[in-house]
Amino acid sequence: MSAHRIATLLRDQPLGTTVTVNGWIRTRRDAKGFSFLEVNDGSCLANLQVIVEASLPNYEAEIARLATGCAVRVIGELASSPAKGQAVELKASEITVYGWADPESYPLQKKRHSFEFLRTIAHLRPRTNSLGAVARVRSTLAHAVHDFFRERGFFLVHTPIITTSDCEGAGEMFTVTGLDLDQPPKREGRVDFSRDFFGRRTSLTVSGQLEAEIYALALGNVYTFGPTFRAENSNTSRHLAEFWMIEPEMAFCDLADDIDVAEALLKHLVGCALTECREDLGLFARFIDQGLIARLENVLARPFIRLPYSEAIEQLKVSGHDFEYPVAWGLDLQSEHERFLTETIFKQPVVVIDYPKAIKAFYMRQNDDNRTVAAMDILFPGIGEIVGGSQREERYEVLLARLTDAGLPLADYQWYLDLRRFGSARHAGFGLGFERIIQFVTGMANIREVVPFPRTPGSAGF
Ligand code: 4AD
Ligand code: MG
Repeated sequence: MSAHRIATLLRDQPLGTTVTVNGWIRTRRDAKGFSFLEVNDGSCLANLQVIVEASLPNYEAEIARLATGCAVRVIGELASSPAKGQAVELKASEITVYGWADPESYPLQKKRHSFEFLRTIAHLRPRTNSLGAVARVRSTLAHAVHDFFRERGFFLVHTPIITTSDCEGAGEMFTVTGLDLDQPPKREGRVDFSRDFFGRRTSLTVSGQLEAEIYALALGNVYTFGPTFRAENSNTSRHLAEFWMIEPEMAFCDLADDIDVAEALLKHLVGCALTECREDLGLFARFIDQGLIARLENVLARPFIRLPYSEAIEQLKVSGHDFEYPVAWGLDLQSEHERFLTETIFKQPVVVIDYPKAIKAFYMRQNDDNRTVAAMDILFPGIGEIVGGSQREERYEVLLARLTDAGLPLADYQWYLDLRRFGSARHAGFGLGFERIIQFVTGMANIREVVPFPRTPGSAGF
């Protein structure tokens, strides 16, 4: 582990010192009497150029055979480089080959591969420039999420992955079972989950919100950041069956406070990407989306627009635009409507608030007009909905009525109602889809490129 990381060497440039680098060959070029190797160790986008003299003892037998993908250790002296585009290079005194990669069969050769092809080799794709850059941005922003909440005194709560409640009440859950699926126990013609592992039917969580509410009503401000699962059959460039969600929950907080926190978090993450991931963002701006940096800076430039749902509907109607799906009060906004609002009408992030209660989840607080709820969705250009949140219904009777109307099994939500019987308080929260913000800051067209191992309908392998 005494090796140096290339990112550190390029930053500190300790010229004249002997260093050790471990990494993978990107390219080899031969000249008379020596070879150039481009070595990448994943610590940053840039490769380190290595100069190898033909006088090295293993030059003929090994170095002259090095190909893209081989794993090597290089020991040598760091020198300033006469070549354009790089400040330093490494003059190798010793090269050890750890692992060969046969150029006949190694799939990642010099040419640019399509993202679709790279998805078929999920075990190798992080070795490409673009997917490596995404992985670094993702890691940096995950840390930035924790920094944001820690600085503001929020506590991190690990909410369960296996759950018995359907947070969104939409029934799009994956069942978790230990039953023998070939011969499940049955009662009255149906699978008898009382004989399952947990003694009842359980699922993978669609959201940590309900459990986060428990902790908000004990610790004040909390957040959860974990994997969530949806069995919806949405084969789009914005949906995954397994995605990560950041869900803060705040006691003594209303919808306006909730939006302020969400806006601050989004700006913090975009700002952090711009300052800490400059090199990787430069790659995306060059090859993926030329307007990327301007789009990111635009998010930081002004307060987000706040727009009641009813006004959003009016704006869409008067636009005269020919939408595929109808626009009418009471109907949910489709992705084409969301994008039209944020990309064409306002050209900046828009927070739509006060949606009709009939199209929103049971836990959202009913407004005094009795027909809308204190909900908010934040819409981003190029993405559509990036955040969904609300003030929660804290009144026992109103919540009971909503659960009943929604036809949800009251027995499963008794504990949730209890929070409204004992020390209930105004509270609010939201969910930010982690992959959607990564998509936004990288400009990646498909969400499958911003998660290491995409799980989508029909696809859960490598
Ligand atoms: O709007 P959603 O469904 O809200 C909730 O789950 C609430 N319980 C959150 C809360 O208030 N604590 O999802 C929140 C966000 C969406 O805005 C979107 O960014 C992301 O999660 N999201 C998905 N991301 C990728 N693939 C999917 N299938 C997603 N579904 C939602
Ligand atoms: Mg939503």
